[in-house]
This record gives sequence, structure tokens and C-alpha cells, in this order.
Amino acid sequence: MNPKWWKESVVYQIYPISFMDSNGDGIGDLRGIMSKLDYLQNLGIDVIWVCPIYKSPNHDNGYDISDYCDIMKEFGTMDDFDRLLQEMHLRGMKLMMDLVLNHTSHEHPWFIESRSSKDNPKRDYYIWRKGKNGGPPNNWESYFSGSVWELDPQTDEYYLHLYSKFQPDLNWDNPVVIDKLHEMVQWWLKKGIDGFRFDAVAHIVKTEGFPDALNPGGTQTVRAYDMFSNLANVHTLLQNLHDQVLYFYDIMTVGETSGLGPEQALDYVGDGRRELNMTFQFEHMFLDAASAGSGKWDVVPWSLLELKKIISNWQTVLHNRGWNANYLCNHDQPRSVSRFGNDLFYRIPSAKMLATFTHMLEGTPYIYQGEEIGMTNIAFDSIDDYRDVETLNYYEEKRSKGLPEAEIMGAIHKKSRDNARTPMQWDDGDEGGFTTGVPWIKVNSNYMEINAANAVKDPDSIYNYYKKLIELRKKHKVIVYGDYKLLLPEDTEIYVYTRTLEDQQLLVILNFFEREPVFELPPEITPGTLELLISNYTPQKEENLSYLKLRPYEARVYLRRLYSV
Ligand code: NOJ
Repeated sequence: MNPKWWKESVVYQIYPISFMDSNGDGIGDLRGIMSKLDYLQNLGIDVIWVCPIYKSPNHDNGYDISDYCDIMKEFGTMDDFDRLLQEMHLRGMKLMMDLVLNHTSHEHPWFIESRSSKDNPKRDYYIWRKGKNGGPPNNWESYFSGSVWELDPQTDEYYLHLYSKFQPDLNWDNPVVIDKLHEMVQWWLKKGIDGFRFDAVAHIVKTEGFPDALNPGGTQTVRAYDMFSNLANVHTLLQNLHDQVLYFYDIMTVGETSGLGPEQALDYVGDGRRELNMTFQFEHMFLDAASAGSGKWDVVPWSLLELKKIISNWQTVLHNRGWNANYLCNHDQPRSVSRFGNDLFYRIPSAKMLATFTHMLEGTPYIYQGEEIGMTNIAFDSIDDYRDVETLNYYEEKRSKGLPEAEIMGAIHKKSRDNARTPMQWDDGDEGGFTTGVPWIKVNSNYMEINAANAVKDPDSIYNYYKKLIELRKKHKVIVYGDYKLLLPEDTEIYVYTRTLEDQQLLVILNFFEREPVFELPPEITPGTLELLISNYTPQKEENLSYLKLRPYEARVYLRRLYSV
């Protein structure tokens, strides 16, 4: 089972701009994070993944870095960072940085020099091409709408940006760029940080010659996407980064790698590959997309059978060969309880059920800020209240094509990244206790009911349920390392699986909907051998475990000993 600390850990993701504001400017910051470490320690968190905190003009909330070795002024100073790291280590917690190696900000000094003239020594740090037939060099579309190419009038050439035009892609064909990036990674490691989440790392290599794509869309599984994602040379570059830098530190690494299945993921995380520890897979994030090529905005109901198929595939293929990163939400996705649970009538039981699901799978569980108190999606009436560059570009593009406002806003309510970016709800005071000033984005008006102060106090809260799940992980190795097996693959309402390690077996029973289906215990399991580890409901008196009527969104985890005499 190859034990590792990062397999046994639980990770908590912080999106700093929305986490906690310490100085009343309406923007979360490092001192704000520091003030909440006790809250996270009490929850049982081992590792905190902090989204980018580097100097940035903030066109994409820090994913546009203008100095890799400085801190965004709105977030604080390098002294604040050093103290934060120290405070975390004092509490036995580790810090995972979020690092963007695919692109920088257009305000990075490298880009400023690069764009200044064709013969500038840093010209080749980025990807410049001449236009074709009076237009861009090829037809690839960017993640954030429009072409991936931006014409720069200064030299009359185009630069490539897979994301916004304020995020020019670095040229990984240039060995000098690679050296500079390695140096910078090492600089952070020497500070004593404990890991990296590598942003958009699947895209650092592009198809040579930049040919046109048959289908130009930049979304999952369509042609242009394949021309800049998961190409063979990405692995060589990651192996070099590993062997020359990462290998010398006891850290954890996770790559953001969309567009692949588990077999392909093994190229990144397979034991012996010398690349990454984990990747974030995206297959389940596209369950509610209308079709492979339609992108994320065209939403359809998701199906439990599909979810089972995807997750089971990842669980079985990676078992003993790699390691999973399990998540249902992050700063780019809708809130998990609104998307996969029921935030109207069963918010608390469904959030707990989803937590049970991710924490009982094989792999490292990731909790996104606010998920532990069941925070929900937001639906602002006006586009003016949205802040996310992807959302704003989508709105502009669709409006210019004449799509009705209501249709566009409907998609935005379901899928905008701002769903997960409204401020963390700490208490029922003004602005949910996030700031004493005016928040950079409005707080969800449900903060009076849904907030951390209430959750910590209430023994039956989602927060205290998470706490219990994490405690169980520390107690039972089978939760970390057990072999996954799906039961009832064709059941459209209940998701049941076992996890087995030596003589211990978990039986995980999850009712994913509000109906009340019956779970029949497989005949080989004797009810008397089952010990209930956790449930989001109190067991009914004198219930018949062989024929169990589940309540809405009910979750139960049983432990049993195999081969007992
Ligand atoms: C993925 C990040 O998670 C997202 O927030 C960001 O906009 C893009 N990469 C570009 O860096």
C-alpha cells in the first residue's frame, strides 16, 4: 500500500480573496487566513492549499502572476507569508502553494520586455507568431472566449494565451524559461513550503507548428483542446522538474490535468513515473454538460449511473498504481451541495452525504472553503454583480451573438465560477463576518443561517460531521488504503461500495436523492457483524438491516471484520 503522509492527509482549499479580510479593504488576506487557523485545526485539516498569493494585477484573481517571488499587495507582505507558514507548522499543518507555470501576467517584467521588440532577448520567453490571411495564426479558441491569439500592435505579431489576453503563455520550448522556472520553484521549496498544486500543467506543451483544429472550441474533448493538452513532452518536462528540483524535498504535488481518463493519468501519477503524486481529474465535472463539445455552460441533469461509472473507473485503475485526488468542488466549480445535493430542502443531510462519499473513497479528500458548512450557489440578478473574467467574457460573447439575457443568466447562475467565490460566511454579523468594509463581491444573503459560528457550536452541523469523518480517517487505515469495490452498479438511486484492507471492510451506503429506496444487505453479510462508524441520521429503533429503508440523502458507513471466528 506504500504509505505516505499525503495519502493519509485531508486537504482544505483556500481561495484567499474570499476567505477572511483582516484590514477592512473588502479583500481577503494572509492575516485573515492566519486568524482562522484554529478553526481549521479544530476541523482536523492536515494540509492547506492556498490559491495563488503572488504579486498580480488580479485579472484572474492571482492566476496571472507578475512576480513569482513577491506577495500580492492586497494579500499582505512576505513577512506575513513567513509568519503564516510558521504558524501553520507550529500547529502541525502543511502548506501547499498553487503555482501557475503555464502562463504569467501580461504585467510580468518578462512579458513587458518580450513584447517590447522582436529582437529583445526575452522575446522567446513567450509564444509569438505572425498572423495568417489577415487574422490570427490559427483557429484555436481560448478557455475564456475568443481566439487564443492576441495581436500586439507594437510588433504586429500575435502572442498565445490559452486563458485571458492578460495571461500570455510561457514558451516551454525555451530552455532559459525552464531554468528560470526551476530556480523559482526551488526558491519556494527552500522557504519550507510543503507542496504544489500545479495550475494548468497539462497545457505547457502545444502541438508543433500550431495547426488549425477541425473543431476550434477550447473545451473538453474537442479537437483544439487535444492540441494543447497532455501532450507527450509534458511528461518529459515534468520528469525533469521532478528529478532536478522536487525530488529533494518531502512534499506533495498535484497537477491540474483536465481531459484525461485514469489510464492516461497514470502517465502523471503512476508509481515510478517520477512526475506528480496526484492529478485533479475532470470527468465528473462534465457530468452535467449537455455534450462533450458543448462546454460547461450548456447544462443537463447529471446521472448517478454515470457518476458511479467514472468514479469506479478511477478508483480501480489507480489502485496500487497511482493515487486519486477526490473532490466535488473548488474555486472553478459550482458549490457541491447545490450541484450534486439538494440545497433547497435537504441541504444538511445532502451535504453530509456528499462529504461521506468523497471521504470514504480511496485517495486524498479535498474540502473547498465553505463546503464544510454547506455554503450554496449564488444567483445575482444582474451581470454587474459578477466579477469572474470567464463569466463576464461568456456574457459579452453571448450577448453580442443575440442570445436572450434570461438564457445567459440562467447558465451563469448554474455554472459561473463566482458560485464558489462569494465570501466565506463566518457569522451572522455584517457581511457574514468576512470584512468590516465593502466586500469585493457580494456575500450570499443566506449567511444569517449558514455560517461557521453556528456550525462550530452545533454538534449536528455539517462542520462537526466533517470533523468526525476526518477523525475516522486517522483511526482506520482501511479508509485511506482499502481496495474499492462497487456494489449495485445498476441502481439509479443508491451508491454502495466496499473498501477492504486485510481483515477490515467498510460498507458505504449512500442515498443520492430524496426518495426512500430500500437497500437489501447482500446475503454474505451478516447484520450482526456490522459496526456503524458514521451516519447523517440517527439509526431507527429496531431497524432491519437486511432490508433497510433509506431516508432522503441518507449516508451510512459500517465497519466489519472479515474472517471473524
Ligand atoms: C485553472 C485555475 O483553477 C483557474 O481558476 C484559472 O482561471 C486558470 N487555471 C488559469 O490559470
